[in-house]
Amino acid sequence: MRRLRKPTIAALTGLAAAALVSGCGGGSLGGGDSDDGGGGGDTATPVRLGLVVPTSGVYAPLGEDMKQGFELYLAQHGQKLGGHAVELEVVDEGATPATGVAATQRLLQGDVNAVVGIVNSATALGVRDAFDEAKIPLIVANAGADAITGAKKSDFVWRTSFSNGQVAAALGPQAAQTCTKGAFLVAADYAAGKEATAGFRQTFTAAGGKVVGSVFPPFGTTTNYQPFLAQIRQSGADCAYSFFAGAEAVAFTKQYAQFGLKDTVKLYSSGFLTEGGVLKGAGAAAAGIETSLHYSDQLDTPANKAFVGEYQAKFGESPTVYAVQTYDAAHVLDDAFKTGIDGPAVVKGLQGISSVDSPRGTWRFDDGHGPQQTYYLRRVDQGAGGLVNTVVQPLSGA
Ligand code: PHB
Repeated sequence: MRRLRKPTIAALTGLAAAALVSGCGGGSLGGGDSDDGGGGGDTATPVRLGLVVPTSGVYAPLGEDMKQGFELYLAQHGQKLGGHAVELEVVDEGATPATGVAATQRLLQGDVNAVVGIVNSATALGVRDAFDEAKIPLIVANAGADAITGAKKSDFVWRTSFSNGQVAAALGPQAAQTCTKGAFLVAADYAAGKEATAGFRQTFTAAGGKVVGSVFPPFGTTTNYQPFLAQIRQSGADCAYSFFAGAEAVAFTKQYAQFGLKDTVKLYSSGFLTEGGVLKGAGAAAAGIETSLHYSDQLDTPANKAFVGEYQAKFGESPTVYAVQTYDAAHVLDDAFKTGIDGPAVVKGLQGISSVDSPRGTWRFDDGHGPQQTYYLRRVDQGAGGLVNTVVQPLSGA
């Protein structure tokens, strides 16, 4: 068993202890799903976890949602995972790998049983080898870098979120049905934007669509999208596909409408463009945008309704995809820690999970350790209490 060498990690405090066990808990372990930490030995030993999420930079709002998703799972499960008390250290990923990789490596120099989080694809790619070498499990709860669960998969790297290419590929055939003159692709200039546009291009063109241009505004520094929007207008496209998230999504969506493109060039996007606080920030400019994503708080299932109710009661707002992904990360660790808490034992536990019952619907890990899951077509509509991402239909393009 790993020895705990670093007494400075603060025990997680301020979380309501106990006992709302939701209808959507309970993934299935191949070897049985006991409550007592069976198989993992001494549950008196706490598990030490790092949560790496942005608390600064353009993706900071995503980090807050992720923290809340993790906190809700712990609150519902007596502040324990796999029967072990949890000691949690939250570290700031910042906006880019410059900050995210350094923060994660500092965490690995302590003595953690596992790390959860990572929003930015470039950061995930930058830390992958360190986890592989240290034999400490990383549960990526957002970053969609395709290679993390593909060419660069590792026994020690798992993902409860999505891959960038898949989210976008799910939308391509749908967009091809309405987009007759051609699509213009516009996305943040880093791994996620590049992979998302590649995924969209692949299924969109396979379904008969034509791409008439693409542009990649600098990531994290662009505030004025007008030069890029001018290129869309000049291209003659009748639709656009975009990848932006966080503060960039708000700025892009508002400027797209202000520039007069909203009613003439139909905007499709990976669903991060209209998720959570971003949708509130963009307001009316976002109405009608169609996106693909593996979650909407509007999903009409008993498991999701119970989750949304409990999340709203605790945080006074609706959950986002980021919250769900991190809630599910806590869930898979809860199962895996029952096998043991040192790195290889946790991996064995993760390998034994046959499916995860999630607010998004039941999913399972694929061969690359990423979720095999349903993607949905969503449309921004006016709901009773403001704009919402209505679930239109499941998609089959990914
Ligand atoms: C990513 O970098 O992979 C990324 C970041 C923010 C998102 C989605 C993907 O909302």
